Amino acid sequence: MSEKQQEARHVAIIMDGNGRWAKRKHLPRVMGHRKGVEAVRALVRSLKDTPVECLTLYAFSSENWKRPEDEVDDLMNLMRKFIKSDLPEFIANDVKLHILGDWRSLAPDIVAMLEDALAQTAKGSRTLAVALNYGAQAEIAAAARLAAKQGEVTEESIAANLYTADLPPLDLLIRTSGEVRLSNFLLWQAAYAEMVFTEILWPDFTPAHLMDALDQFSGRERRFGGR
Ligand code: IPE
Ligand code: IPE
Ligand code: MG
Repeated sequence: MSEKQQEARHVAIIMDGNGRWAKRKHLPRVMGHRKGVEAVRALVRSLKDTPVECLTLYAFSSENWKRPEDEVDDLMNLMRKFIKSDLPEFIANDVKLHILGDWRSLAPDIVAMLEDALAQTAKGSRTLAVALNYGAQAEIAAAARLAAKQGEVTEESIAANLYTADLPPLDLLIRTSGEVRLSNFLLWQAAYAEMVFTEILWPDFTPAHLMDALDQFSGRERRFGGR
């Protein structure tokens, strides 16, 4: 009996390696981040050719504030530019923006831009979820606090208060650049996600690499503790 190929509905990516990409090319770090944005753009464009309903990207962690101020500034400025340049394309391509993390404490102009982008893309059918000022441990603690206020603290009531409550369950988590760790990303959601770690540095990651990861996923046997 032939089983239906399993498809990943929700894929998350830890986009790592921008700095090393730039270093290898003797370029300033910001060039790595710029090329990283181009990789994001190409990937979002390719989504319509995949079964992926939701792509979640780790763009800025709550720990990334530890970086030198000029790098943080560069990242925030790239964010501003990206929202401005790509919002019309999201709308045209039926992409719905979702944001994870404590994004409301970012600079007021970024918060306003994001609120506008969320409103303008609300009707999209495919979700691009961006983790901004995100940390999974803080997310879980906040969700548990809310669950306690609402009533019983259970797995379900915590899950219902996570940033991902309205997203499909996480199927596949990819990390680029050869690092094999989660760096405080989607710790709860990754409980039974399949993982793909690749040496490719984020600026070099193409839609073909996503296809390859999706192929690996479809060949994995998921058991969820059963047999
Ligand atoms: C990922 O690339 C981008 C962010 C964390 C914002 P890095 O800047 O971490 O690149 P490496 O890990 O130093 O190469
Ligand atoms: C994880 O990458 C965060 C993002 C990709 C946004 P980092 O480069 O910050 O992670 P560590 O410090 O190597 O664990
Ligand atoms: Mg890194």
